[in-house]
Amino acid sequence: MSVMAASTESETQAFVRAQTRPARHPLVPEITLRLASRITPIWTASEESLATSGVEPPYWAFCWPGGAATARFLLDHPERVTGRRVMDIAAGSGVAAIAAAKAGAAWVSAHEIDAYARAAVAVNARANNVAIDIPAGDPLDAVPPADAVILAGDVCYQRDMAARMIDWLRRAHAAGAEVWLADPGRAYLPEIGIEECARYTVPTSLELEDREMRETVLYRLTG
Ligand SMILES: C[S@@+](CC[C@H](N)C(=O)[O-])C[C@H]1O[C@@H](n2cnc3c(N)ncnc32)[C@H](O)[C@@H]1O
Repeated sequence: MSVMAASTESETQAFVRAQTRPARHPLVPEITLRLASRITPIWTASEESLATSGVEPPYWAFCWPGGAATARFLLDHPERVTGRRVMDIAAGSGVAAIAAAKAGAAWVSAHEIDAYARAAVAVNARANNVAIDIPAGDPLDAVPPADAVILAGDVCYQRDMAARMIDWLRRAHAAGAEVWLADPGRAYLPEIGIEECARYTVPTSLELEDREMRETVLYRLTG
């Protein structure tokens, strides 16, 4: 099945299921996710679409160090989100959003520009028996919220995307939101206006990251 052939919501979710297997990231074994067991087949399966429509690579089929670290932190410190409104920006598989819901957040939304990622979040939320709102569209086009906890895991890997994301997150912080940024040492992590809150050694794969562990830091935006 090619990505281009999958267009309705149910077809998109079927594509996600066909390309993945149920798995658990070692840092967050409490959460089950549909993940690709190897990188190559799914990247090839998406190549046609990537070439013709310029959509994102299938980040949603992997649990990235930033999302895993955020999820671990929330499961260990549920009081950070209990009863609160939580937005997971650039949610990928939705691992951090699912952790927030499990931790007792009052309302959780997962935001993704990639329709396949939104499908993956829906499939993964269902598998973990949690309710997550998954709006379409680019969250960075909206006015940043003033009253939410915002999670952003592993968003500093591309220069333009990171600049736009950090600008939006800073505006959210200025408006009153609490912003958490989890990063495994990507190139475009801002050097100022962040404060380290927790640190994890996150297992990853050689195929994805050219190493087996990534030191990943959970920061709180301070300005
Ligand atoms: C490296 S993945 C991280 C996914 C997840 N947070 C994790 O750590 O596992 C980055 C994700 O950002 C998404 N993304 C890029 N630009 C975005 C935007 N403007 N709004 C929402 N998501 C975006 C991509 O589609 C991709 O799924």
